[in-house]
Amino acid sequence: MKTFAVLGNPIKHSKSPIIHKLFSEQTKISQKYIKIYVPINNFYKKFFHFIKNGGIGANITIPFKKKAYKLCDFLTRRAQYSGVVNTIKILESKKILGDNTDGIGLLKDLQNLKFINNTSNILLLGAGGAAQGIIYPLIKFGCNVTIVNRTYQNAKNIINHFNNIKNLNCLKLEDLFIINNKIKYNLIINATSSSIQGNIPNIPSTIINPDIFCYDLFYNFNKTPFLKWCIIHGAKKISDGIGMLIEQAAYSFYLWHGIIPNTKIIIKKYKKYNLY
Ligand code: ATR
Repeated sequence: MKTFAVLGNPIKHSKSPIIHKLFSEQTKISQKYIKIYVPINNFYKKFFHFIKNGGIGANITIPFKKKAYKLCDFLTRRAQYSGVVNTIKILESKKILGDNTDGIGLLKDLQNLKFINNTSNILLLGAGGAAQGIIYPLIKFGCNVTIVNRTYQNAKNIINHFNNIKNLNCLKLEDLFIINNKIKYNLIINATSSSIQGNIPNIPSTIINPDIFCYDLFYNFNKTPFLKWCIIHGAKKISDGIGMLIEQAAYSFYLWHGIIPNTKIIIKKYKKYNLY
């Protein structure tokens, strides 16, 4: 049977195996999909060990997406632009193809939720691999994206990575506290890893209002700390990242098998039965 895996650290929480099992059942395409825990300094060793043992595709998650980008022989256009890889396919030639399905998966989920349109003004929190991986499709869709990060230089690095592309800019965190009353954001996306430790990024609560859409790339059984904080400050339209997780997985499935699963059914099932 064709074998796939998700590699990351931490990995215990990963829902990718269950999502891929649902895809397999729906499409009648059988595949084996496992979780691989990767010690922080052992990504390349673990990855190549998996490939040597017959693995033909993988999802790469926190914090190895930039490392994954570096080991690819070929990149899809969106992976090339983002500089981050979350999906790998071993080609018949044994060469490694890297893709990034996070950004397109997020955009699809935001569209499903009606959280976005092509004039949305987006405040993006975080400047790590997760943030960098989702920017390109949002800009391409027509949105304006402002990055705010705890460490300003990391936000600047992303701006430089995208060669000062139009509609992408960054703000110092302290400036957000000063100017937030003058700028209206339609959508705020938490792409920091703060939720993993149960924290919330430090931003002014005055940004939150009943009209703003609040999205957290993170997800868990209960509402994430960030979403709870948004609700406390008046948000009415919130979503965690489970829909994005399913959408990005569907694009990975497509890269491997050439078939895109019906994600709407899976997202509904997932939310209904609380499969978190
Ligand atoms: P990932 O691949 O998940 O993006 P990462 O590259 O380690 O992981 O990036 C984590 C991001 O979350 C960074 O933007 C980090 O801010 P710094 O650049 O200042 O390190 C942000 N982050 C993590 N914990 C945070 C916290 N408690 N508050 C605010 N931002 C946080």
